[in-house]
Amino acid sequence: MKIRGTKLTVVGAGAVGTSLAYAALIKGAATHVALHDISAVKVKAEALDLAHGSQFLPPHVTVEGSDDVAVTANSDVVVVAAGAKQQPGETRMDLAAKTVGMMKSLIPPLVEQSPGAVFIMVTNPVDVTTQAALKISGLPRNQVMGSGTVLDSSRLRWLIAAECAVSVTNVHAYIAGEHGDTETPLWSTATIGGVPLKQWEEQTGQLSREVRERIAEQVVGAAYEVIEGKGATNYAIGLAGTRIIQAVLRDEHRVMPVSSYLDDWKGISDVCMSVPHVVDGKGVGRALELPLTDGELQRLRDSADHIREAARRLGF
Ligand code: LAC
Repeated sequence: MKIRGTKLTVVGAGAVGTSLAYAALIKGAATHVALHDISAVKVKAEALDLAHGSQFLPPHVTVEGSDDVAVTANSDVVVVAAGAKQQPGETRMDLAAKTVGMMKSLIPPLVEQSPGAVFIMVTNPVDVTTQAALKISGLPRNQVMGSGTVLDSSRLRWLIAAECAVSVTNVHAYIAGEHGDTETPLWSTATIGGVPLKQWEEQTGQLSREVRERIAEQVVGAAYEVIEGKGATNYAIGLAGTRIIQAVLRDEHRVMPVSSYLDDWKGISDVCMSVPHVVDGKGVGRALELPLTDGELQRLRDSADHIREAARRLGF
């Protein structure tokens, strides 16, 4: 029986796009990866460099690159990572006008080439670019999501695991809201090995309020710290994006805090923001009804207002 191939397009051959393509190839997330960028020289060189490693990739995994949008045709998943780089000290929201403007010309031809694809926005400010892409594309809600706080939640889990000397795979915790300065940890739903954090603190004395506040600050500041040191973040977002791609192409029904259009989620509407959603072969599904504290819900409402105002200022 011939296994149907799956096609992933990555738009943007910069640090983020190429890291994501590299991670997707190594993990065999799709059988064919197409890299697309406006620079023909750059995108062809990146694809060639990736193809040279084919012997070491999972079998039947192929890669190509082109500045011609036709290279993206009939994709199952399209990841948009093209956009301006966040400079040291710059917030993600500072990029909004530049990158959202780009979406108006970038999205329509991609949708024309792959009308059935699931679109995953990575370009920052990702909640605003997701909202813009959803409206520009005219696609149904399930077909357009953003990487959102999947990466931030990974940072949170890594910091909790280190603090408590447990495997990161046993930590379940979400960052929700904006992928940005107004994001917030959902401590009340976090668990370690099934133990709610409140009981964990009572049992071990770890994760005191002060420690939790320090960890939350480290998560919000993580990208700034990396950008200060190396000029960009790329590896972790490449891995996070690949995990979302796998959930779609394997129809995993996996719960992930991706950015998606909310319509009366706990009273929050008309905004793309990260809360835990079910991600499957059709894209982004329902948002989970989490038991949150009043404080957590208020911080999510504030985050939604922040994103919605930025999107409205840009006409979305
Ligand atoms: C970061 C970028 C992807 O958080 O916004 O590293």
